[in-house]
Amino acid sequence: MDLSTRYLGLTLRNPLVASAGPVTSTADGVRKLADAGVGAVVLPSLFEEQLNHQATRDSYLASAGTESFGEALSYLPGAEFDPWPHQYLHLIEQATAAAGAGVPVIASLNGVSPGGWTDYATAMQEAGAAAIELNSYYLPGDPLIPARDAERRYTEILISVKAAVRIPVAVKIGPYFSSPGEMATLLDRAGADGLVLFNRFLQTDINPETFTVSRGFRLSSPGESSLPRAWISLLHGKVDCSLAATTGVERAADVAAYLLAGADVVMTTSALLRHGPAYAADLLDGLAGWMHRKGFTSVTELRGLLSAEAGLAVPGRTGYLSAIEQATHAFGSAQLSS
Ligand SMILES: Cc1cc2nc3c(=O)[nH]c(=O)nc-3n(C[C@H](O)[C@H](O)[C@H](O)COP(=O)(O)O)c2cc1C
Repeated sequence: MDLSTRYLGLTLRNPLVASAGPVTSTADGVRKLADAGVGAVVLPSLFEEQLNHQATRDSYLASAGTESFGEALSYLPGAEFDPWPHQYLHLIEQATAAAGAGVPVIASLNGVSPGGWTDYATAMQEAGAAAIELNSYYLPGDPLIPARDAERRYTEILISVKAAVRIPVAVKIGPYFSSPGEMATLLDRAGADGLVLFNRFLQTDINPETFTVSRGFRLSSPGESSLPRAWISLLHGKVDCSLAATTGVERAADVAAYLLAGADVVMTTSALLRHGPAYAADLLDGLAGWMHRKGFTSVTELRGLLSAEAGLAVPGRTGYLSAIEQATHAFGSAQLSS
């Protein structure tokens, strides 16, 4: 059984990738994932905004200290602070060693300033990252910012990072564009080596009893995979770059469904948090078992078999588009008869 796949120009031993999240945040977690068989690992994002907050706080503490104690200047860094994310760069080195030669470690970056995106991306490359995933989301706070301007930020950031590094660059985007397919195509044309569909965002809750606002990640459920799967199915064969699926992988069947839709790799975070890093081996065993039952000998044979393009090309095959057409038709008939 040949589970190998290509992603971002890299050869992976299989298409299961541990996406950014708590399990990949330590070298130990990465080692366990590699032992369980994953094809690659994405580290949690380095958030430039957090570094800026930290730097502002350090600067404030330093100046507060120098005012309070005369001798403070001798041991406080004064207004000078170190904006470099040493811990993160160290994690890249440790995780790369823990993963071993066959399991690429992908660093993830959420920048703020144009210089931040490129400088941190370059530092990640120097620390040994096999590729970079740009965790790009931009919330236009001003309600009058034109959609085109907001979208242009994504391609501009990608172009500047691509110009700064030699390693492959993937872009992880959310689904909230007027035309997600066009956004994906623009990123592909701007040089993205891969697209990761779709990011899930922090969920904000308001507690009316305590008048508090909380933010956090909720784990996903398999039902949430239909949106990214539909877009992967539509983009398969239409973009040159790799396609990575993220969201809603709980069972091996979810991995198989994403591959059939046309994903080059399938990522998982929530399932690894629920069941632990060793669960990656169960997902891979399940995938190999399903392939055996269905008579496939390689991932290449099955990838995109039920993509929109295949659905159109092969009469009678229930690809995504024909399924959507059937559903629309059924909906139309129901409306007509009601
Ligand atoms: C606790 C937690 C932390 C996460 N941290 C990051 C992150 O740092 N960067 C990122 O791009 N995605 C992050 N994600 C999103 C995941 O990488 C993934 O895209 C998302 O959870 C959907 O996949 P899933 O359904 O397998 O969980 C995080 C998710 C969770 C649950």
